[in-house]
Amino acid sequence: MTNSYRSVAWAGVAAIALGSAGAAQDRPKVPEPLTKSRPDDPRKKLTVMQRKLAHAQKVLEGLAKEDYDKIRGGSDGLMECVKESSWRINDTDKYLLFSNEFLRTVENLRKAAKDKKIDAAALAYVDMTLTCVKCHRYLREAGIALVPAAVPPATTTASTVARRP
Ligand code: HEC
Repeated sequence: MTNSYRSVAWAGVAAIALGSAGAAQDRPKVPEPLTKSRPDDPRKKLTVMQRKLAHAQKVLEGLAKEDYDKIRGGSDGLMECVKESSWRINDTDKYLLFSNEFLRTVENLRKAAKDKKIDAAALAYVDMTLTCVKCHRYLREAGIALVPAAVPPATTTASTVARRP
């Protein structure tokens, strides 16, 4: 192989490397078109789940800044999420139990924010977070989660798994 051949070959390798690095950076953006630009997509129910996370983060910010309006705003948002029909992905007793427990912790959070009690609010937040984890664990173990009925399981699973952090 001559020198010039070699440098052409290396340029090719570099281009491939750059190309795949670019693709890896783009990957987190994949969910956007599913939820935003295709409102008729059955997987749009994921948006309520994503909003849930955003509201929970808002509550955490409120707790950190002792901003009670923010805590209340976040808990109101969480309440709205639970009331949405797409929240009820599953109707087993256990799922409803977790849903109710979640709602109860959010109500405690709201009350603590209303009373301007930061410790109580922080505890309610922790309680609520435990419910997130418990419900998700249940769904995972029961094999229920991430398989919305309206979408063929293979597609759903693949796209959802790819979107896990
Ligand atoms: C009562 C059960 C339940 C509780 C409580 C719950 N979740 Fe979920 N969550 C689900 C289900 C069901 C899904 C999967 C939805 C789907 O695949 O369509 C999900 C999915 C998610 C996702 C993934 C969304 C996506 O687009 O990939 C996030 C993030 C999430 N939940 C955050 C939270 C947070 C944060 C909390 C607590 C503040 C919480 N969840 C509490 C049932 C629950």
